[in-house]
Amino acid sequence: MVRPQRILVVCQNARPPEARASCAPTGGEAFLAAVRCELKKHGLKGPLRAVGSSCLGVCEGGPHCVVFPDAVWYSGFTAEDAREIVEEHLLGGRPVERLRAPGPDQEPHVRVLPDGLQFPAKPGATLLDSALDHGVPLPFGCQSAKCGVCRVEVSGGAAGEAIGLHPPSTLEAAVLEGFGCPSGVRLACQARVRGPVTVRPSAGDAHEPSAAD
Ligand code: FES
Ligand code: FES
Repeated sequence: MVRPQRILVVCQNARPPEARASCAPTGGEAFLAAVRCELKKHGLKGPLRAVGSSCLGVCEGGPHCVVFPDAVWYSGFTAEDAREIVEEHLLGGRPVERLRAPGPDQEPHVRVLPDGLQFPAKPGATLLDSALDHGVPLPFGCQSAKCGVCRVEVSGGAAGEAIGLHPPSTLEAAVLEGFGCPSGVRLACQARVRGPVTVRPSAGDAHEPSAAD
């Protein structure tokens, strides 16, 4: 019997939409399928394994997975990240830093320009909730991805965004596209923090929510 060199455990727990966050519906299921395709493509199903699991206990800000024996956790990934995790980490032994979950005792810091105000954010909390919790005045309106008043530019563009924030949900992505926003612009009421990030409010031509919204 040959023991696998590395095992990737991906949470496949699925809760109903009205319940607490869970990993399968937020991309865990698609990610596991994509990883298995990559392993098959590389002929690596023996030495490297990818398995699904029930809840891993962290839930918010998912999906979540962990690589053994390295004990490296990832969160907020998508199926598009499967190839990088397989080739860099499972095969190459180099964890993919931009997708690593923050440690349990690490609260990433958010910095707001132009004043440089800083505050800690709970991983998985939205930028706006974190700012308001600490009395930092970010502009906002509807708080439900409609008005665009809470738009922020992320310093470092797409790279800064990948380190500091989880990828946009389908709703947020559609709204940003509707506003014609370039990459690196996010809605503070929707964007969830996963690492250190610097943002600058950018709404300008704010759209006030109407009855039709
Ligand atoms: S549902 Fe995935 S960690 Fe709990
Ligand atoms: S506050 Fe309206 S879109 Fe965020």
